[in-house]
Amino acid sequence: MKLFTVGPVACYPEVLQEMGRQMYSHRSREYIDLHYDTVERLKRFLETENEVFLFSSTGTGFMEACIRNCVKERILCCINGDFGQRFAEVAVSNGRIVEKLESRLGDPILPEVLEDALKTHREVEAVAITHNETSTGVINPLKDLVSIAKEHGKMAFVDAVSSMGGTEIKVDEWGIDVCFTSSQKCFGVPPGLAMGSVSAEALKRSEAAVNKGYYFDFKIWEKDQKRRVGTPVTSVIPQIAGLNRVLRMIEEKGGKAQYFDLYKKRNERIRRGLEKIGLLTFPKRGFESPTVSCVNAPQNMKGTEIYAKMRESGYELAQGYGTLREKTFRIGNMGYIELEDIDSMLTVLKDILGR
Ligand SMILES: Cc1ncc(COP(=O)(O)O)c(C=O)c1O
Repeated sequence: MKLFTVGPVACYPEVLQEMGRQMYSHRSREYIDLHYDTVERLKRFLETENEVFLFSSTGTGFMEACIRNCVKERILCCINGDFGQRFAEVAVSNGRIVEKLESRLGDPILPEVLEDALKTHREVEAVAITHNETSTGVINPLKDLVSIAKEHGKMAFVDAVSSMGGTEIKVDEWGIDVCFTSSQKCFGVPPGLAMGSVSAEALKRSEAAVNKGYYFDFKIWEKDQKRRVGTPVTSVIPQIAGLNRVLRMIEEKGGKAQYFDLYKKRNERIRRGLEKIGLLTFPKRGFESPTVSCVNAPQNMKGTEIYAKMRESGYELAQGYGTLREKTFRIGNMGYIELEDIDSMLTVLKDILGR
């Protein structure tokens, strides 16, 4: 089966090979070397001096961590799809008050709208932004959104689960307080590891926070990171070894700019192919995600049928998400994908649609 999923995605063969090695203790010299090497590589990748933590959880763990460590009462959540909605639910389930800034599905959250929302909700402590809304295939203008949040003196939490690794994020220059992702997306590693940068300000807020729980307490993670113990809980060593391998591969193949170009190339090839077949993409023009294409199903066929037929033909795409389940289907271009597989996938799609 060729995977064009939106996560977990196909993993690089080198990653799988790396992960197949015998285990060792997360307190061993081998692990400590691996841990700090990976953290340093991620810091370089994100252009940050902030702490970078490797959580034994998925990305959602970082949403919970942002709320419990850094938000006393109120947060503004930018919502233009299901994952923005999830951030809000995580905040509510932890007893916080959520102000919602919502846009129509398919539309981005625009900086000027955030500006207005922050003028109205002056009391919020932080802003949660989904960089790339995987459910609708929309990329939000992150740099400008963070800039507005910072101008208003708010913390900026960024869900970069389906963007980190696939497109540029400059954590320090843009002023992001917490920026996180999951291993099973753009880095092409199996699920189970969440990686995120945490600013000095976020750590300061955590110090003052009460009832923040144990597992995701930033201060506990900082302490063990600083005393070169690595992590306070057992690390997901295979995933970290896999990630380390990918980060090395990216550096060996010319650095992150080259990796982002590869993503762009794949994404454009998919979108050009869709256009040729006569299919339209769901997001507003100019805000199409570089990692996942959300495609409108044609009149005569549901998105779920297209997904099922593609699967029978050996190509796993992704179904539409939530309310868009029948109306759309999605084609991811994250992880291990060869350019020629994109062409063959598009040929099969064309046949299935009878075009
Ligand atoms: C944008 C976005 N945020 C959050 C999540 C949740 O990530 P996880 O399942 O790793 O917790 C996903 C998963 O697809 C996602 O795409």
